[in-house]
Amino acid sequence: MSLSDRDRAVLWHPYTQALTAPAPIPIVRAEGVWLYTEDGRRILDGISSWWVNIHGHSHPKLNAALAKQAGEMEHVVFAGCTHRPAVELAERLIEILPPGLARVFYSDNGSTAVEVALKLAIQYWRNRGEPQRKTFITLHNAYHGDTVGAMSASEDSVFTQAFSTLLFSVERVRGLDDMERCLQAHPVAAVLIEPMLQGAGGMIVWPAEFVAGVRRLCDRYNTLLIADEVLTGFGRTGKMFACEHAEMTPDIICLSKALTAGYLPLGVTATTAPVYEAFLSDDRTRTFFHGHSYTANPLACAVGLASLDLFRDEAVLANVARLERQLRAGFGLLRSMGDVRVIGGVAAIELKSDKPGYLDQIGPRLAAAFLDRGLLLRPLGNVVYFMPPYCISESETAWALEQIDVLLRRLPLW
Ligand SMILES: Cc1ncc(COP(=O)(O)O)c(C=O)c1O
Repeated sequence: MSLSDRDRAVLWHPYTQALTAPAPIPIVRAEGVWLYTEDGRRILDGISSWWVNIHGHSHPKLNAALAKQAGEMEHVVFAGCTHRPAVELAERLIEILPPGLARVFYSDNGSTAVEVALKLAIQYWRNRGEPQRKTFITLHNAYHGDTVGAMSASEDSVFTQAFSTLLFSVERVRGLDDMERCLQAHPVAAVLIEPMLQGAGGMIVWPAEFVAGVRRLCDRYNTLLIADEVLTGFGRTGKMFACEHAEMTPDIICLSKALTAGYLPLGVTATTAPVYEAFLSDDRTRTFFHGHSYTANPLACAVGLASLDLFRDEAVLANVARLERQLRAGFGLLRSMGDVRVIGGVAAIELKSDKPGYLDQIGPRLAAAFLDRGLLLRPLGNVVYFMPPYCISESETAWALEQIDVLLRRLPLW
């Protein structure tokens, strides 16, 4: 039996309707931007394996860091113990994060990084004697993850509909005026945004002035600003962190995905010193009672450190800038077909559609057609995007852009 057949007998895949979805692609090896299948095909990973991969698959230096750490220590409880990879990664992150972020709390994926941020914000106000500050302000089209808190903060959508009875309510806004009205009307615990780029909500690019404006409003109304940089962190928008476009420091930042260059799950929620200090007390009820078995997993931290070494030693951000120029030129040619948006290493086109949204059938049909041409893309309904690992070469990018161009130009025939 093939891998796909064996898979079909026992597995349940994320975001997949098993009754109608094509068989999963059996990948047996991956190197650089390429995935190799059991039946001998080579496919370009045009979505960085759900936005996590940045330096390419099976990178020799990352492989070596992982193997070295596995030889020394695989994992140890992080309540009461500490270890070099966790300490060093926190030190290195604090060096490069927007100035003022001074404490690192580890968890193990993007959703938990957001859950931690939400819980920190609520308890921060409680510890400071303002427990009435409970409202979260979030943006329409937001996506913050699939756990219950992260879903609550996300847009009300097909992803969350089935779980509406589980979710807490938040105030969703569309712009700064809207946000200011909300800040005046509610006791707000925090404003939560995906700075510069909303990902799963449709690859929506925001101006830096908006992000700077959110910071100003949070200062004016004395509330916390949480930046969810799970997608945007580590160079994806062209800067190391998207907050840098607006030269602002959030009170809390959430990181995951490219934190370990796509190797292992790890989450970081980093805060400023004042947020941390609100939890210091003789009163033990003020402790942040949150943790996961794999908190600060040493293997993940070691790869995270090796990834930061690559940023330091190689021209990684220059590659993203080169990629951005190529994406602007390539997607620029598609403007007549829809709204084109490019930032850093991400390019998207929102195709004109009678039924826009995640369930637009054009998405899976295009995905199948791209796959036939050796390009792995997962359009978000009528939003087709390309987000490859930063190590993609100029000629590989040109090839992928050509596939996208050729297929989209045939669209009216479908
Ligand atoms: C902005 C943002 N936040 C949070 C998440 C959730 O991360 P994870 O899938 O690791 O739980 C995602 C995942 O796509 C994301 O894009």
